[in-house]
Amino acid sequence: MKALVVAIDGPSGVGKSTVGKALAARLGVPYLDTGAMYRAVGLAVKRKGIALPLEDPARVIAIASGVDVRVTGSAEDARTWLNGEDVSKEIRTPEISKYASAVSAVPGVRRRLAGMQRSLALEGGGVLEGRDIGTKVVPETPHKFFLTASAAVRARRRFAELSAKNSLETYEQVLADMEARDHADATRADSPLTDDGTYARLDTSALSVDEVVDRVLSAVGRPVPPGG
Ligand code: DC
Repeated sequence: MKALVVAIDGPSGVGKSTVGKALAARLGVPYLDTGAMYRAVGLAVKRKGIALPLEDPARVIAIASGVDVRVTGSAEDARTWLNGEDVSKEIRTPEISKYASAVSAVPGVRRRLAGMQRSLALEGGGVLEGRDIGTKVVPETPHKFFLTASAAVRARRRFAELSAKNSLETYEQVLADMEARDHADATRADSPLTDDGTYARLDTSALSVDEVVDRVLSAVGRPVPPGG
């Protein structure tokens, strides 16, 4: 593997996106938000009028195989496209979080998206963030980080993000949804979120974004000065 690939895995709300974008910018490599791809498939499934819980995996796989999902842009301006439509904002709702988690448990969906993610990583390198980057997508990279933080800290962060977008979700709803989704993501049969012992673990509860980024950069061994 020639390209520099950094895997950032961990549960929701742990800061993977903020840290991943800053890292990609500092390292000068692409940034790939793999969750955005599951979210786009989740949106496509919802638009077909399919309700949760998903009862017909074959139909979900057929929908996933028939859509064109792309993530483009740099860390500063990452966008997600579904059949040529910019869905970057629409995929960030609590409802689509549930759809994304549900479609991500379908092995046929994972095979397709993980295959695309692996090709992108091997072609151009990058910071990839998700749940199975270090276990399944690019297990051979030596640069694997598993971010953690308590559920309360993560829910507070996610609640602040949603409130800034005028969401009416309460903190209690955000916490309950987050715990349910993490449980589903960590217990599904195919590629669950798991620290298999090959990661460097980083508890972000008491760290600033800059502190997390600096620790990852020094572990990667390619520290780059700010702006450089
Ligand atoms: O990172 P996120 O919250 O945007 O991800 C949305 C869902 O997609 C998440 O609940 C689980 C799934 N996902 C996954 O299974 N594997 C990944 N590499 C990324 C996300």
